[in-house]
Amino acid sequence: MVAGAGNYRCGQGLAAERIKARHMAIERTLSIIKPDATRRNLTGKINAKFEEAGLRIVAQKRIFLSLAQAQKFYEVHKDRPFFGELTEFMASEPVVVQVLEGEGAIAKNREVMGATNPANADDGTIRKEFALSVGENSVHGSDAPETAAEEIAYFFSGLELVG
Ligand code: CMP
Repeated sequence: MVAGAGNYRCGQGLAAERIKARHMAIERTLSIIKPDATRRNLTGKINAKFEEAGLRIVAQKRIFLSLAQAQKFYEVHKDRPFFGELTEFMASEPVVVQVLEGEGAIAKNREVMGATNPANADDGTIRKEFALSVGENSVHGSDAPETAAEEIAYFFSGLELVG
């Protein structure tokens, strides 16, 4: 009986370990420092926020998106009323595209970024500190593992990811 209870507890312990391991999985996510932030020379301050949160920048480049490239990237929003404004903004000045790596990187990055609308963002987040509006909101981050993989592949080859 006692041994059985012990095995049960041991089984529970293993399950908890597996759940923890799943939650602690190393992930990669795509981040974009948007034109409103590159224009104001905020790349370093934003990168410091990522690094302080334990995210590692394993790839990064500064590029100037064409309108067609911005439209392709944000294709999922093509029927939204802000699509034109969003894509013209993203193609208006340089952006910094980057891959962030870490435990639970997708959710962690979204935490560090804060809410899409800076008016709703928590203190200490990038958007609370730096964003100008819901459109000019300083950063983009992938929202799920599938989109992270697609968005990373849109900008980077495997050789450019240096973990
Ligand atoms: P992002 O995380 O890059 O994903 C889609 C973007 O659309 C979002 O950040 C916002 O910058 C932008 N967006 C969302 N709602 C609006 C809006 N009402 N007006 C302009 N841009 C918006």
